[in-house]
Amino acid sequence: MTGRTQALDENAVRRAYARWARFYDAVVGPVTDVGRVAAVAAVNALVRKHTGADPMDVLEVGVGSGLSLPGYARNARITGIDLSTDMLALARQRVSDEALGHVAALEEMDAGALTFATGSFDCAVAMYVMSVAPDPEAVLDELARITRPGGEVVIVNHFAKADGWVLWFERKLERIAALIGWHPAFGRERVLNHPDLELVEEQPLGWLRIFTLMRFRRRSSSDD
Ligand SMILES: C[S@@+](CC[C@H](N)C(=O)[O-])C[C@H]1O[C@@H](n2cnc3c(N)ncnc32)[C@H](O)[C@@H]1O
Repeated sequence: MTGRTQALDENAVRRAYARWARFYDAVVGPVTDVGRVAAVAAVNALVRKHTGADPMDVLEVGVGSGLSLPGYARNARITGIDLSTDMLALARQRVSDEALGHVAALEEMDAGALTFATGSFDCAVAMYVMSVAPDPEAVLDELARITRPGGEVVIVNHFAKADGWVLWFERKLERIAALIGWHPAFGRERVLNHPDLELVEEQPLGWLRIFTLMRFRRRSSSDD
């Protein structure tokens, strides 16, 4: 992490997203839509290539209010988890209101301590979660663990700029991380060096390029 940070532990995340829940879709939703659209498109491209007899299993960690859920291909099988009861309540309401039958489960769980079996998903997705999670390295470990070898991990996030006035501003904002519910000065290097994840695509998004999509292939042990 670059810059000074303020503790954003599990309770702070829950408190922050209990506050955000009422406004999230209206305020944060439109600003961050570009990343969700790109990540869901990346997942749907994998669904089209999926040859298994069973639907492609996708885990979305930090699913929040479920803004992404209607976008996934209906022949995928989506599981969502989140730390925040309040955000999950919105996601469950969405699934019910929009009859999203491809959403198999929505569970309250820590992305850094998943209860799913190793290799049990074809794809794992984290949209705007890495810079919120109290322990992003644990989340990355878990995303790699539950994704089967050859599967993909898709991450969308804002990463801190390398230098300039934007980085200066991000570091100032970092002081109120627990209040706003994310780390504005989160560095991209923190997701790049996992031994089981090979970066296959990195794409800045939108005309402002403040968000980045990364796709990683889950290595098999024979790749080493
Ligand atoms: C900025 S919101 C993004 C929500 C959603 N992915 C979206 O694109 O709208 C971050 C979400 O990550 C969740 N979160 C943060 N850390 C988490 C963790 N360790 N495990 C599960 N969820 C987490 C928060 O509760 C919140 O709902």
